[in-house]
Amino acid sequence: MLKTGSGPCRVVVLVSGGGTNLQAIIDCVNDGNITNTEIVGVISNNKNAYALTRAEENGIRARCISPKDYDSREIFNEKLLQAVREYEPDLVVLAGFLVVIPPAMIAEYRNRMINIHPSLIPSFCGKGYYGLKVHEAALERGVKVAGATVHFVDEGTDTGPIILQKAVEVEQGDTPEKLQRRVMEQAEWKILPRAIDLIANGRVNVEKNRTIIKGGFL
Ligand code: GRF
Repeated sequence: MLKTGSGPCRVVVLVSGGGTNLQAIIDCVNDGNITNTEIVGVISNNKNAYALTRAEENGIRARCISPKDYDSREIFNEKLLQAVREYEPDLVVLAGFLVVIPPAMIAEYRNRMINIHPSLIPSFCGKGYYGLKVHEAALERGVKVAGATVHFVDEGTDTGPIILQKAVEVEQGDTPEKLQRRVMEQAEWKILPRAIDLIANGRVNVEKNRTIIKGGFL
């Protein structure tokens, strides 16, 4: 997807929890590791998400759109899509967002919406694999390498075109929490900002269900 139009890439980040991936993005914009990008808004489904505090502390418009505040999922879906549209984003980033994305939103932001998943897709992904569950399954299987994946969002669960992946060593005696932390520190917080920088600078194209990264990954 080539960024069209002038001006920086307008990014909206959707969050549900602590916001450490959001913080990594904010830090990389501030220190120049992400260029040509402006984080124009943060939306959470969870009013208690510390990610909202992180946004406010960094002067980024933040709001909560919770399914609990609406009579039906359909109405919530419409409100969520409306809220995203208002920011006029070039790119939507799901950073630990735990709500199912409405089909209409997937269609409208095809190849303009990315997700960070805490495994090397196609391992330990799909329905039911999120957060700590991913790392519990990896340790249960006894893998020696874990990692994270950034991919475009399509109608499936963790099935869209892969943009970047980064592997992380599993260590003897790892608990799910220790492994999760290492995957976040060594993989998620590196490849999500990197993917945003590549997209914002027009270096990621999608052909069929695969990406072509102009100039290579690094
Ligand atoms: C973590 O489980 C992370 O692996 C996944 O989303 C969860 C919360 O991340 N991507 P964050 O701290 O809210 O960014």
